[in-house]
Amino acid sequence: MEIITRSEAETIELGKKIAKQLKKGMVIVLTGDLGSGKTKLVEGILSYFGLESEISSPTFTIVNEYYSPNLNIYHFDVYRLEDSDEFTAIGGEEYFEKGVCLIEWGELIEDILPNNYVKITFSRNNEEENVRNIKIENLEF
Ligand SMILES: Nc1ncnc2c1ncn2[C@@H]1O[C@H](COP(=O)(O)OP(=O)(O)OP(=O)(O)O)[C@@H](O)[C@H]1O
Ligand SMILES: [Mg+2]
Repeated sequence: MEIITRSEAETIELGKKIAKQLKKGMVIVLTGDLGSGKTKLVEGILSYFGLESEISSPTFTIVNEYYSPNLNIYHFDVYRLEDSDEFTAIGGEEYFEKGVCLIEWGELIEDILPNNYVKITFSRNNEEENVRNIKIENLEF
């Protein structure tokens, strides 16, 4: 499925819709250039669960952990990891079964992801500053 959003707010709204489909054990890879909207979508997902409304990528910590009554959410940014071995070394895979993992730049550790992961790909538009094309694979809603 492909969706076009025309503002940050629309991407946050899309995040809320996606959030309704999320269940423990799901891994979501967010892929696309710097500033393409990955973190904004995560912001929408978190706000659906009544969690943080202003967030940033977990640039220095690799993972930010959020707890809601029914579901834990683990927000990763693996941009700065050397490879998937480094992800394994920090115990990354142990998070997969504990809640929902949202992994910015997750394609960099593709080789150790569960094979049914959801992939969300963001691309910018050359002409229109605030337009994003968002492709969602492996998730029905
Ligand atoms: N349609 C849109 N959807 C999402 N963000 C948009 C949109 N239009 C403009 N923006 C702006 O683009 C930026 C997206 O930033 P965001 O932090 O979500 O990117 P990112 O993909 O997580 O980047 P990084 O790889 O650096 O973590 C924000 O400044 C936001 O205001
Ligand atoms: Mg980000």
